[in-house]
Amino acid sequence: MSKSDRTEALIKADIDHILHPISTPGVHIGVIFERTRDRIYLVDTEGKEYIDVTSGLMCVNLGHGQKAIQDAICDAIRKIDYTTFFYGFGNVYATECAQLLSKITPGDLNHYYFVSGGSEATDTAIKIARLYWHYKGMGTKQKIITLYNSYHGQTGISTYATRMVQGLFQRGFGAEPSGYLRVPGFFCYRCHFGATYPDCNMLCARNLKSVIESEGSDSIAAFFAEPIQGSGGVIDPPPEYWPMVRKICTDNDILLIDDEVMAGFARTGKMFAIEHYGIVPDMMTMAKGITSAYQPLGAVAFNDEIHEELKGKLFAHGLTYSGHPIPCAASVASIKLYQELNVVENAATVGAHIKKRLDEEFLPLPRVGNIGGGKGMFHAIELVTDKDSNGILGPEIRQALWSKMLENGLFGRITGTFGNRLFIAPPCTMTVEEADKTLDTLLPLVAELKPE
Ligand SMILES: Cc1ncc(COP(=O)(O)O)c(C=O)c1O
Repeated sequence: MSKSDRTEALIKADIDHILHPISTPGVHIGVIFERTRDRIYLVDTEGKEYIDVTSGLMCVNLGHGQKAIQDAICDAIRKIDYTTFFYGFGNVYATECAQLLSKITPGDLNHYYFVSGGSEATDTAIKIARLYWHYKGMGTKQKIITLYNSYHGQTGISTYATRMVQGLFQRGFGAEPSGYLRVPGFFCYRCHFGATYPDCNMLCARNLKSVIESEGSDSIAAFFAEPIQGSGGVIDPPPEYWPMVRKICTDNDILLIDDEVMAGFARTGKMFAIEHYGIVPDMMTMAKGITSAYQPLGAVAFNDEIHEELKGKLFAHGLTYSGHPIPCAASVASIKLYQELNVVENAATVGAHIKKRLDEEFLPLPRVGNIGGGKGMFHAIELVTDKDSNGILGPEIRQALWSKMLENGLFGRITGTFGNRLFIAPPCTMTVEEADKTLDTLLPLVAELKPE
């Protein structure tokens, strides 16, 4: 369809001047957004509206156009634009934010280091973990274990904590540093061991134990994982996984770092996804929903024991925007809004309705092999060639579905380690009626998919 001169000019300027994240330079998707509104809508420069089926990048958890957050940002920036957080200088917004976070994070995760996003949170968490062992006089404990199919970001350290899409995010970017181990995760539908749950007797968790024994726990600083894998395709573990991993880490003196960047802040129908599994990690990373993405902010939470070890010693790690007052003000307003609007409860209730419809109406379709996730507003539809072979549905068909979704007013995302998981992760404030409208529009598009 032809576009207005203004849109065409914007697209041309974009192609001429901008390199987008995860993109092919020179190729444009043809959409430039202008506005967002009413919790679930994105509006482009043509005035066309799209339902935000994935809350942006699973980050606008409170939905678009929340006035309380907009006002908090405007009020704060009129009072204070920037002051440094280095050397111990504080600001009122960061202090209030840390106090509020300590009320909602599990156990004794009472201490926070502020950053500007999830990747920086990963880098910082790993540096804190290594420094903790260094100051404890156990500096040989430096290796980091992560899972295959994981996504923890794309800055320096986080690039190597991440491992999905057959190493795509490392390829071509230079030699890999040592000190990163990956172990198979809990993707039961395509189990790395070819095993079947529950007969597998939790081979994935038992394998972690055996890897630690082989490497030597005196060489390992931390096990770092998402409670439910997000970018890998919304993959939730069997209920026993996290309690087993918690015990393995405790028994072997390995820090357990829980990456809640995508799964946190009401996304799964709990404030943090790890709460589903009844364990408390030693550290937690968070970003995205911490401000509902209205401002860039991330944080690393760590427990009292780590805090005690670091006390009185130099922490030589700093970022200009750490503790920036404006994102912290946005976070304060967001955390209050999660509570005032009962967003956790809404995500659980509306999410259960979505899950029921996905199981009953989408799973029987010929190109749907699996429904992933299932908790709160965190689901994925696995697209396959056919139900017998569970082959990965090809990239052209996936691309065509994506374009069809845009055409029909659905902004979505089809990704995962094999690129064939269609995400259903709308704002956690979405109503049942809005969820039905979304699924009613999507159902015929998935139903008409042909094998390659
Ligand atoms: C679990 C997880 N960790 C870390 C990151 C990186 O966050 P950012 O893109 O804010 O750097 C992401 C981003 O999607 C994520 O899903």
